[in-house]
Amino acid sequence: ASTLVDPYTACAGSAGALYGPLHGGGNEAVLRMLEAIGTIENIPKFIEQVKQKKQRLMGFGHRVYKSYDPRAKILKTVTMEIFALLGKNPLMQIATELERLALSDSYFIERQLYPNVDFYSGIIYKSMGFPTDMFPVLFSIPRAAGWLAHWVEELADPELRIFRPRQIYMGRRNMNYVPMDARQVQQHNSGEKLSSFSSGFDRRRDVSEELFNFEDGAIPKTATGSKSQLSASIEQSFGEKISPQSH
Ligand SMILES: CC(C)(COP(=O)(O)OP(=O)(O)OC[C@H]1O[C@@H](n2cnc3c(N)ncnc32)[C@H](O)[C@@H]1OP(=O)(O)O)[C@@H](O)C(=O)NCCC(=O)NCCS
Repeated sequence: ASTLVDPYTACAGSAGALYGPLHGGGNEAVLRMLEAIGTIENIPKFIEQVKQKKQRLMGFGHRVYKSYDPRAKILKTVTMEIFALLGKNPLMQIATELERLALSDSYFIERQLYPNVDFYSGIIYKSMGFPTDMFPVLFSIPRAAGWLAHWVEELADPELRIFRPRQIYMGRRNMNYVPMDARQVQQHNSGEKLSSFSSGFDRRRDVSEELFNFEDGAIPKTATGSKSQLSASIEQSFGEKISPQSH
């Protein structure tokens, strides 16, 4: 807002930031993780992979909350209310067991990792019949009220000046220029492979080169872009047939 941008563009920028799987895309990632784990028997193996930093337990941890996210507590109760109306979602059993095991494991206790708002919201959205790819959109809708409140607040501030985030460069200095083809690609996050639990047709989520590889690759391989594959995965995600476009 400090650039005097219009509210639509400000919200679009906010939605873009929210979409990442470590933020508002987390609810979608949780659901894909639960589906990939598949059965309660697979949970200990999955937790072991998380502790070895081969996986990330989506829906756990928060940049600010270092205790049980109060919103997750409320949503867990709401989940039960939704189930009473719409029937139980079998993923809930995996989620509760995953939570129980994680909360009794020293890895998570020492790092103060608890369920966050995304851990149960995905199951609620799924039970209500929303397509998984729509979850971050649903998360954005109520957030828009807060984004717009910030927009108004900033524009109403008579002392508003353009925000200048400040970063202090801490990297190496006095380096020689290395041609592109002679450069060595640095491994992201000291070797941790972040599984993005991307949907069948959404390559934008693939922040790592490797696709999710839990045992025999329980997550369907991301569509490569071929039209038929793309339609098939869209149909799979949305549960409806795509009719061929005439134009
Ligand atoms: C939300 C999140 C990005 C916050 O990150 P952060 O506050 O910067 O956490 P840190 O990177 O400081 O994590 C501290 C330690 O816990 C580990 N950790 C944090 N979240 C973890 C998770 N979900 N699964 C496994 N390990 C996790 C980190 O690897 C780090 O371990 P180390 O000390 O051995 O290096 C992170 O917890 C996360 O990725 N959560 C999963 C994604 C998610 O649910 N996002 C929605 C947030 S509402």
